[in-house]
Amino acid sequence: MKDIKLTNRLAAIAAYAVNFERVADIGTDHCYVPVWLLRSGKVKQVYASDINKGPLQRARETAEEYGIKTGLELVLSDGMSHLNPDSVDAIIVAGMGGETIAGILSASDWIGEGRHALILQPMTKTEELIRWLHLNGLRARDAALAEDEGEIYLIILAGPGEPKPSVCELYVPKVLAEKRDPLLGKYLDRQIRRITSAVEGLKSSRAPNKDVRLTQLEPVLEGLIKMRGEVEYANCE
Ligand SMILES: C[S@@+](CC[C@H](N)C(=O)[O-])C[C@H]1O[C@@H](n2cnc3c(N)ncnc32)[C@H](O)[C@@H]1O
Repeated sequence: MKDIKLTNRLAAIAAYAVNFERVADIGTDHCYVPVWLLRSGKVKQVYASDINKGPLQRARETAEEYGIKTGLELVLSDGMSHLNPDSVDAIIVAGMGGETIAGILSASDWIGEGRHALILQPMTKTEELIRWLHLNGLRARDAALAEDEGEIYLIILAGPGEPKPSVCELYVPKVLAEKRDPLLGKYLDRQIRRITSAVEGLKSSRAPNKDVRLTQLEPVLEGLIKMRGEVEYANCE
């Protein structure tokens, strides 16, 4: 049977999902993760859905190419509107903006019950997703970074949990520092560059809300620079 090789980003998502028997992949597109999970033999059932017909057709073709005959349910659906929450243990929502992922999660009120492991991979606006998790009684219980072709991706394993994240932790979950993720220094450098440029842009702009935004972003920048220093220090120990 043809072997399926995942990119580092998809492999990091699959590494969390492989611990569950029944998994949903919302916005599956190419369906590589569901196929890999079923081929692993550890995951027994995957519900894979997409809102668009083209990606769902791609998913069908991948399943066929890699010889998946049982265990995969492919569904054309917006978010989790057709998903029975009792039929899965873990839910993947990956490769979309943080606000889109939060929108998909918020459309299903049972998500806040915390019965499912959520494997989330925001491409942008991480802070909006982590804020949404907190407002709904959830938090990043674990996280990992993966690098592909020069890009670094954040993968979050979310579940029930109360502690309010600091403004910095909305951008970079602190579990990455606790685990001493090897990509954390590089990831922080990029976040610091990005926020520095946003702060500089705001300072020279005439936007009416500029002072409010600066009051929000400057403490984040300060916190991330501090975190970067601590990572440097930990690496020297
Ligand atoms: C960039 S792809 C990501 C594919 C894959 N999850 C990954 O991480 O590589 C985003 C996919 O999500 C789908 N999508 C966007 N909004 C969605 C929604 N509300 N419900 C289901 N699928 C959605 C898109 O059609 C697209 O196929």
